[in-house]
Amino acid sequence: MGSFRVVSEGPLTRPLAGTVYVGGAKNSALKLMAASLLAPGRSLIRNVPDILDVAVMGQLLRQLGCEVEITYPVEAEPTAGSTSGLVTIDVPEQLDHKAPYELVRRLRASIAVLGPLVARCGRASVALPGGDAIGSRGLDMHIRGLLELGAVVRIEHGQVVAEVPHGLVGANLWLDFPSVGATENLVMAAVLATGTTVIDNVAREPEIIDLCTMLVEMGASIDGISTSTLVIEGVERLHPVEHSTVTDRIVAGTWVFAAAIAGGDLNIEGGITHHLDIVLDKLVSSGAEIDPTETGFSVHTHQRLASFDVATLPYPGFPTDLQPFAMALAAVSAGTAMITENVFEARFMFAQELARLGADLRTDGHHAVVRGVPMLSGAPVVAHDIRAGAALVLGGLAAQGTTLVAKSQHIDRGYPWFAEALAAVGADVSRLPD
Ligand code: UD1
Repeated sequence: MGSFRVVSEGPLTRPLAGTVYVGGAKNSALKLMAASLLAPGRSLIRNVPDILDVAVMGQLLRQLGCEVEITYPVEAEPTAGSTSGLVTIDVPEQLDHKAPYELVRRLRASIAVLGPLVARCGRASVALPGGDAIGSRGLDMHIRGLLELGAVVRIEHGQVVAEVPHGLVGANLWLDFPSVGATENLVMAAVLATGTTVIDNVAREPEIIDLCTMLVEMGASIDGISTSTLVIEGVERLHPVEHSTVTDRIVAGTWVFAAAIAGGDLNIEGGITHHLDIVLDKLVSSGAEIDPTETGFSVHTHQRLASFDVATLPYPGFPTDLQPFAMALAAVSAGTAMITENVFEARFMFAQELARLGADLRTDGHHAVVRGVPMLSGAPVVAHDIRAGAALVLGGLAAQGTTLVAKSQHIDRGYPWFAEALAAVGADVSRLPD
């Protein structure tokens, strides 16, 4: 538990200055850890962020029979905002096929073990996941895809139970929607299936490309990586590898919004502009300056930005994970913004918290209209998920007075050392115990 305390005199009154470091992507590292299950032997995953979810995924892999060691360099500077770790996973020939509720409920991404377990063990029993409170997050596409690959799948006693009576066999699949999780599970099942699998309308997020790249390094045959159609030629066996996690575009984007909301000059080391094209484009059009550097990019904001509309979409569209930050920025921008959430329907729970800070907004279904005000006003608020929590902290940077963001453990799940990194670049942000 715990809270973050943010003290400010309003936007642009205490500009941020300095360098922040972006480490490996949470949403990639967790899937790469699950992918290691596909090959017996020792896999090494580098550039893993120092967050609780990685430890929970490590525990889950241990439960399945792996030996897992997670190390972070001792000399790492916590205030740098990112500590890159190394995960070593020794995968046995015989895996346990049961992923229990006690662990799965702590981590939505644990559903990513479903595909690998089905492929390796011919059966899997994975508790229905928990994770962030941001919508229904169905599994129908995961399940339909596995059925088409030859699995028999049922939901019983809160578990997804899959059995493969005659082995996985390649098939032609398509997804209703480019779901990140379904793409990952189906690719990880198909790489060890007999024959060819074609999956249409797959997700194309950089984290999916990272996963497919690691699978190819392990000996998988995947064509069409980074396009909407993947063609996978099943192989009999994969081998363990060493792989470095792609940097976290959502963390990089969060720092861009931090500079846009508070004002200032930030160097974002490790940020990849190409992964944030649509986001950076909108910020530049509204008055921010963004310059590439040798090792990332820098962002400069010295005046109130103009409002811009946002509609979230699968990559390369505007990321749903950055939508709360866009809403927090719109709350103090000049003009009115229409924010449309197309990916996770319940993400607007955040809007109610932002309104507690004095934002002038109305929501209707999956649309929100935000009229910018010159400054917000500090208040106690609650972080309901990782991104909403971090966005409330940034809202606090534009709020006169003290903002207390409760349930800050959500923020720690996605951002290593967020309070410390913000303080290191000049914000008045600190942690309070409960
Ligand atoms: C992942 C990310 C999350 C990000 C999201 C979209 C992880 C751990 N989480 O979540 O941070 O916001 O991608 O970029 O990587 N859906 C169904 N049926 C399915 C699968 C999905 O209805 O079988 C729906 C979900 O309820 C949701 C939408 O599709 O409304 C998007 O889900 P998906 O792309 O699968 O996101 P996740 O993998 O859960």
